[in-house]
Amino acid sequence: MTMLVSGCERTPPDYRPEVTLPVYSEGDADNGKVIFEEACGQCHQLTPGLNKKGPQLMNIYGATAAQLADYDYSEGLKASGWVWNAETLDPYIEDNEKVITDSKMLADPMPDASERADVIAYLSTLRAPVPTLDEDGFPVETNVDSTDKQIVNNDEQIKPLRDKAIEIPAGDANKPAADFQ
Ligand code: HEC
Repeated sequence: MTMLVSGCERTPPDYRPEVTLPVYSEGDADNGKVIFEEACGQCHQLTPGLNKKGPQLMNIYGATAAQLADYDYSEGLKASGWVWNAETLDPYIEDNEKVITDSKMLADPMPDASERADVIAYLSTLRAPVPTLDEDGFPVETNVDSTDKQIVNNDEQIKPLRDKAIEIPAGDANKPAADFQ
């Protein structure tokens, strides 16, 4: 294969296989979502390729621990051999540093078992099919409508937004997104 030499090669996003386990029903997933956003969202999001301090968590339920090629895990988590289900997620969320030697996850412990069950229920609902990938491992765009008319219309819609975007004053908006720090 011919490779283009480039100074800024992008790492392709890694995808966990889609979850096949049934949803965990001993917690309230809606409440779990609220808790997740508060307690986990600062370090975790759900889009493959966009790891924050922690790895993205799409399709985490039933997945092997530390399996994403585009995230740098601790040796302890890599060596755990764990599969993420209620039995492993519960003590991990309760206090990860107690169960994984050398854990990199600096999250506060969550002593309330029913909150943990809610978070696990929510995590078990996070499932998305793996997209078709090109030969470099990037998702192939689908649903691209390429008729000329469509492009003109899109441009009409986008132009006012684009003009507006240029006026953003210097300040917070110009800082790099936290995801990429
Ligand atoms: C302060 C940042 C931070 C917070 C808050 C946090 N995490 Fe993490 N999480 C991490 C990091 C960093 C790792 C990687 C751990 C390692 O490599 O040892 C991780 C790893 C994980 C993993 C393993 C992922 C994998 O691919 O194997 C799961 C599951 C997880 N976190 C769930 C949660 C949940 C649920 C919460 C909220 C209750 C949470 N985390 C809160 C930073 C955080």
